[in-house]
Amino acid sequence: MKVLTVIGARPQFIKAATVSRAIKEHNEENPDRTINEIIVHTGQHYDMNMSDIFFEEMDIPKPGYSLGIGGGTHGAMTGQQLEQIEKVLLKEQPDWVLVYGDTNSTLAGALAASKLHIKVAHVEAGLRSFNMKMPEEQNRILTDRISSALFCPTQTAVKNLEAEGYSNFGIDINIVGDVMYDAALFYTERAVKPSSIDDLDLSDGFVLSTIHRAENTDDRDRLSEIVSALNQLHLERPVVMPLHPRTKKKLEEFGLKLNVKLIDPIGYLEMVYLLARCTFVASDSGGVQKEAYFFNKHCLVLRDETEWVELVDNGSNFIVGTNKELITSKGEEILRKELPGSCFGQNLYGTGDAAKQVVAFLNNKK
Ligand code: UD1
Ligand code: UDP
Repeated sequence: MKVLTVIGARPQFIKAATVSRAIKEHNEENPDRTINEIIVHTGQHYDMNMSDIFFEEMDIPKPGYSLGIGGGTHGAMTGQQLEQIEKVLLKEQPDWVLVYGDTNSTLAGALAASKLHIKVAHVEAGLRSFNMKMPEEQNRILTDRISSALFCPTQTAVKNLEAEGYSNFGIDINIVGDVMYDAALFYTERAVKPSSIDDLDLSDGFVLSTIHRAENTDDRDRLSEIVSALNQLHLERPVVMPLHPRTKKKLEEFGLKLNVKLIDPIGYLEMVYLLARCTFVASDSGGVQKEAYFFNKHCLVLRDETEWVELVDNGSNFIVGTNKELITSKGEEILRKELPGSCFGQNLYGTGDAAKQVVAFLNNKK
């Protein structure tokens, strides 16, 4: 059986790493029924520390195709990816196309396949923010609808699909848990200290922060509020931020000064090191707000809504938007250790075998 995996952005490398490893294990155990995985890298993310580092550190098979399509407007990026992926699909004729998450690469891969009547399997399906202005919300809704198999990380995701009438669409809906949880479990023991924080004394803890969400970076007022909140928190506890290239550009463009410990984007093994040791997390990332939970850390969600509502409901994460007062006061509350830790340790994202379940499904469905 042949599976063609389409990935292009940082979180997709991390998610795909777990499934590629599960495919490898499957092939070792079933030499007479192997799965041939071909990876297509769209090129959406292309810097060494946004792309290659993950392939190297996480042992992801080399892409069979590197399309080199990154940057530009949404339409241009998605359109060019669609055209090039179609050519690859016509040549390779896979049984399945596997896509992850909600980026432009996800939609381009799914749409190219669906138009050619090639089955699409969507990992991390069913998530909704209910904010249709987010490019990610558009990408994930469209991708879900044209897929043949959906792999949901949470019960909430399944409910979202049911509410949209998916029970009538003839699409296979599976709840398998979260492949990012698989990754956290597997790579934690390989964690590496980032050399870029060697000069910091982190013995009293630190705040780990990431920002890249378009609705924050591209809006001067929102970005400016986040910047002043983090600058204030940094006076109490060091704030370490691996700076996403999008955010770097926008800070420069708006003339905003982030007085925290800024470091270049880091690999996953280094990120896991920081997640395991930080005091709490402040992030607008989809993946990082969940990883905080995997490592028993509270997270200030620097957004107005989240797809990972179970973490807000159980008291581990807090939606603080971009309001400076809310961000700093909630952050200080966490630092004062006033919050109960009983929210952690629930099995909200499966048991670490999500990738294995995806592979078992594909193997049985040929
Ligand atoms: C994309 C995804 C977002 C995901 C994020 C993960 C879409 C619509 N957005 O957002 O869902 O959460 O990736 O990080 O697909 N850039 C570089 N070097 C790189 C990558 C990007 O300089 O290696 C710069 C480019 O100028 C680019 C900008 O960052 O124009 C934004 O990149 P893009 O992939 O369009 O969106 P992200 O904000 O990264
Ligand atoms: N990440 C990383 N290095 C960094 C920042 C993030 O490896 O410098 C990892 C992070 O641990 C998570 C994933 O990248 O696994 C999340 O990606 P991102 O925040 O870019 O995208 P999102 O999850 O919001 O789509």
